Amino acid sequence: MPSNQAEWDAKHRLAAEATASEPAGIVRELLPLLPSGPALDIACGTGRNAVFLAGRGQHVTAVDFSGAALDILEVRARGMHFPVSHVKSLHDVHGTHRQGLELLHADLERAHLPAHAFDLILCIQFLQRSLFPQMVRALRPNGVLLLETFTRAQLEFPGGPRNPAYLLEIGELREAFPSLCVLFYRELRAGQGIASLVARKRDKHG
Ligand SMILES: C[S@@+](CC[C@H](N)C(=O)[O-])C[C@H]1O[C@@H](n2cnc3c(N)ncnc32)[C@H](O)[C@@H]1O
Repeated sequence: MPSNQAEWDAKHRLAAEATASEPAGIVRELLPLLPSGPALDIACGTGRNAVFLAGRGQHVTAVDFSGAALDILEVRARGMHFPVSHVKSLHDVHGTHRQGLELLHADLERAHLPAHAFDLILCIQFLQRSLFPQMVRALRPNGVLLLETFTRAQLEFPGGPRNPAYLLEIGELREAFPSLCVLFYRELRAGQGIASLVARKRDKHG
């Protein structure tokens, strides 16, 4: 598993030579639970999920620190005739109902997500615990978070992160967002060790 920006760039360039990626299974599987308003794809990579959401007419802000990944995403999105724009900072992102993709090249370790900006936040195969409170804040009322990433159980299987800092503890994700209302939770220890959460922010009255 790459451990820095340059290694991620190299990995994404290699992956781009393969055929276009399908979205994560969980995104396709739980699509009916996912609001179609402005979305944020955290650590989007080459954009398999962002492009899939854009395909249903959703505006997606896609953030990653790999310039190579964002270049590949842009080519794919333009190839599908989706409007693509670039933003320089998360301060310029306020969530919008325009169609298309907004790309942001940024290190999430130094990022501050805008408050009350998104109806949907995706975070797939990426773990940065310091973003958890920001994710909640960045959701609009009734907004939904979909977070799926590896747990320590992944150490029993090939591939995925080996550094415990990038692995969820068993059961951790279920408890990680106490202010959100859990719509779906699953932990797998078969073929891979992975935890998946879909949770909704309460509205002003809930
Ligand atoms: C395993 S990939 C997952 C990509 C995408 N979410 C998906 O499901 O295909 C992890 C991504 O996190 C990005 N990443 C890692 N650390 C980051 C950081 N500090 N800031 C922004 N992106 C980062 C990498 O460039 C890579 O694209």
